[in-house]
Amino acid sequence: MSERREPSTEKILTVRELKKHFPIKSGLLGAVKGHVKAVDGIDLDLCKGETLGLVGESGCGKTTAGRLILKLVEPTSGDVRLGDSPNLATLSNREWMPWRRRIQMIFQDPFSSLNPRMTVGSIVGEALAIHNLAPRGEARRNRVEKLLEQVGLSREAARRFPHEFSGGQRQRIGIARALAVEPDIIIADEPVSALDVSIQAQVINLLEDLQRDMGLSFLFISHDLSVVGHLCHRVAVMYLGKIVEVGPTRAIMGNSRHPYTKALLSAVPEIEKDNRRKRIVLEGDVPSPVNPPQGCHFHPRCPMRFGPCDKHYPELREVTPGVKVACHLYDPAHQAAVPEPVRQLMSPDPAPVGSLG
Ligand SMILES: Nc1ncnc2c1ncn2[C@@H]1O[C@H](COP(=O)(O)OP(=O)(O)O)[C@@H](O)[C@H]1O
Ligand code: SF4
Ligand SMILES: [Mg+2]
Repeated sequence: MSERREPSTEKILTVRELKKHFPIKSGLLGAVKGHVKAVDGIDLDLCKGETLGLVGESGCGKTTAGRLILKLVEPTSGDVRLGDSPNLATLSNREWMPWRRRIQMIFQDPFSSLNPRMTVGSIVGEALAIHNLAPRGEARRNRVEKLLEQVGLSREAARRFPHEFSGGQRQRIGIARALAVEPDIIIADEPVSALDVSIQAQVINLLEDLQRDMGLSFLFISHDLSVVGHLCHRVAVMYLGKIVEVGPTRAIMGNSRHPYTKALLSAVPEIEKDNRRKRIVLEGDVPSPVNPPQGCHFHPRCPMRFGPCDKHYPELREVTPGVKVACHLYDPAHQAAVPEPVRQLMSPDPAPVGSLG
């Protein structure tokens, strides 16, 4: 496995107040009768050489968030910048094209994300042609073969078709395709969830090696907290379209503050053993993002809810340097109202009240 390298502090991607409200239409005239608030105003920062994990249960908006950044889904509103670029969320498809090269995606399903009728060489080489990097002939062939070697495949793979490869090898082809245009950022949406556990580690190691060698930044979307704990420098936790906790992996995994994060972590066997956490069983399913519960969206399932929880949505506030939490338990204005039994369930070393906010 590769040596771990700390990311730089140079911000390469900044996302502010990004939203996607999918309209729900009904009737012949397609009248809009509501919205699915899949992503409801998220902020994210990614530094050069950093891996940021985006975690949460299924349906909380992770995939939509990744696709919005890439404009595979048109944002309802918000601000997305690569370094000091203009706001990419508002650009037309034509204006977006030159930026498109800098940010690539690896998809969850290595079976459906590769065109079965194209050779691996054409799949990996397509982007080189589109972006005019190695448009044709020998130059393109060489570049494609080098990329295949870089991801651990043979040069001969270029002449074969996707169905001739295993799941892990297909994911390597997807990674080679993403690397072809020399991006700065890769958004990886559950890139190992469809693979056998033994193969997962190989693909994760490959991503780490590529980051070390090329200084890539990753937005790593996953519901698997043990993979995220291993791979990511920082973690952002999503619930019903919003970020509820974000911070360095050690702070989130070792001393999570938000009750939702605590519950997610308590369900991961090896993390539970390390920290002697008690399993927290969440009541009910994730509520619908069409009509999220009033107040804190998590309150109907939260074992620590108290006075203000069903009334006001808690703002995401910094509770200790680099760690932000959206929970009334960590709001100085509500500290006095926290019941004693709930206080005992809080993080072992909550920041002193004076340093909050
Ligand atoms: N094209 C779409 N139209 C309407 N609703 C959608 C669409 N895509 C996703 N959603 C809804 O948005 C929510 C978030 O979905 P998604 O981003 O796929 O979550 P995750 O990746 O965390 O599982 C879900 O309720 C999903 O049903
Ligand atoms: S704000 Fe209240 S309901 Fe929401 S997570 Fe915090 S304690 Fe639980
Ligand atoms: Mg998803």
